[in-house]
Amino acid sequence: MRAGLVLLLTLAGCRCRERQAVTATPPKVAHAQTRWARHEVAAVPEDVYGVPAWSRVFALAFERPVSIGVPACHVADAGCLGVEPTAMRAEPMVGLPTVLGRDEPLAFIGEQVTFLEEDRRRAALTHALSEALQIDPASAPLAAVLFQNDLWERADAVSAAIRTEPQADWAALEDLRSRFVAVMRHVALSKAQLAALGSNDAAVEQRYPELLAGFAKRDGWVELRARSTEHQGATVWNTTTRHAERHGHRMVFRVFIHHQKGRAALEVALARWPEPLPAGTRFVITGAPMALTREGTLEAAPFITLVETRLAMPEGFAPGSVGALAHDVLEGTRAELTRAFAQTGGLRLLGRDALLPVGATCMPDFTSRLPSAATCLMCHGPTGARVTGPMAHGEVKFELTDDGAAAGRAVADAKRASASFQTLGW
Ligand code: HEC
Repeated sequence: MRAGLVLLLTLAGCRCRERQAVTATPPKVAHAQTRWARHEVAAVPEDVYGVPAWSRVFALAFERPVSIGVPACHVADAGCLGVEPTAMRAEPMVGLPTVLGRDEPLAFIGEQVTFLEEDRRRAALTHALSEALQIDPASAPLAAVLFQNDLWERADAVSAAIRTEPQADWAALEDLRSRFVAVMRHVALSKAQLAALGSNDAAVEQRYPELLAGFAKRDGWVELRARSTEHQGATVWNTTTRHAERHGHRMVFRVFIHHQKGRAALEVALARWPEPLPAGTRFVITGAPMALTREGTLEAAPFITLVETRLAMPEGFAPGSVGALAHDVLEGTRAELTRAFAQTGGLRLLGRDALLPVGATCMPDFTSRLPSAATCLMCHGPTGARVTGPMAHGEVKFELTDDGAAAGRAVADAKRASASFQTLGW
């Protein structure tokens, strides 16, 4: 009888200690297994950076299966090019099973991160991250910039999930974040190595002269900067673009305009904003990754990875079909940037029916996609003739600038001042 009593007490004691232990550590979450469909990343995934060890990290850190909404014409035989854009948008979307996280822009992949909590996935990623430390970034400097920027997004996504998702397994995610940051440090270039990569403007212009003639030498082109307040009466002036803000200030966007009548004509037209600019004006927005250097500074990469452009059409222009819209996107995949940088600049013109997230790069929604040209129409209208500005409800000021580094500096300053940057501990 005494033996039985002792046993009972011990069991009760055990249970009690267990309960205490449970309340002291964050609750283990089950949703990683239930909310995310299982997905096996290939043992040898696509080599996006030309550095297999880094590409394995990329696949493990980003790949996940989801169903996205696409317009019915995308899955029909005739496709979307001949479809009238407003008719297309009026139709219900259809679901398309997709694997996110292949070689496409980060903003299109989306910032979800809790699928990495799953034990096997996390173990594989942890292992791949330690292998990534074996590669000398000087052996693949351009890839190192792209890889660091991708890891930076993951580190910021972890911080956001811990802040905003009550069920997130913060211990698991914080462990991953410190590993991401360690690899980011390892692949950081010096300022001199970064600058030595050089610009791809000339190569991109040479490949697409119909869109960018004169661009590399800024021959007839001017850079435009907008400053804005969020609402009327606000005293804080934003000096970066909506796009940079949406990309967590890990990318810099620059706006350029061109008209054959030159700078003076553009200045006159801008002073009349929000009136449209003359037909034939070409607008360009470029994107470039920000890099964290060995010296500890934040710098814009000297090369671009994205161009979105449109041609102002005359008042009253109404596109009869998606293919008739003068909105075009040049996208730099990791694979092409790291292999064909010197020859082609690494950017490729997407078809006007290539799918982009609704909201494009300005406010990407990765769960639904439209043909690229039709996506642009939603914010820039059929003629695309008005300088958009940051779409704030407050005041906007435009200026033409000759300081090509100003946009990058503004993004670096905004990033340094952000909570996500403090958390990174760079
Ligand atoms: C969600 C709305 C939205 C969509 C969709 C969108 N843009 Fe924009 N775009 C903007 C905003 C806002 C700016 C101004 C950025 C700034 O200065 O902050 C802009 C700027 C631009 C500029 C620079 C000149 C300007 O108007 O200020 C170009 C060129 C451009 N977009 C092209 C495109 C193309 C091409 C697409 C389609 C692939 C597209 N945009 C889709 C909102 C959008």
